[in-house]
Amino acid sequence: MPTPNLTPDKATGIGNWSEEKFVKALKSGIKDGEAALRYPMKPYPELTDKEAAAIYKYLMSIPSISNKVERNLTPQ
Ligand code: HEM
Repeated sequence: MPTPNLTPDKATGIGNWSEEKFVKALKSGIKDGEAALRYPMKPYPELTDKEAAAIYKYLMSIPSISNKVERNLTPQ
């Protein structure tokens, strides 16, 4: 049950994600029109946009790590 690379690496992390895309994925669980999350991660609609954007800004401030994680969005 691997969790994704959330470092700012452009190729294997979220370095190419806009703040808007990240906030939407975190709050609604939708990314580019499809599911972004799966168990045990749930969407967090209770976060305000400001709170979700603060998490994005923090993640963008940490060192990039190149680590390709295969996605698995098969319903559990
Ligand atoms: C503040 C805490 C967290 C944030 C900001 C966060 C953020 C995200 C984001 C943005 C994605 C989508 C990544 C993508 O589409 O490439 C994701 C997916 C996921 N997260 Fe989280 N997450 C958090 C906590 C957790 C925790 C605590 C777990 C597990 C215990 C978890 C497990 C997962 C899993 C399994 C996925 C789907 C991976 C896949 O695509 O196969 N997350 N998370």
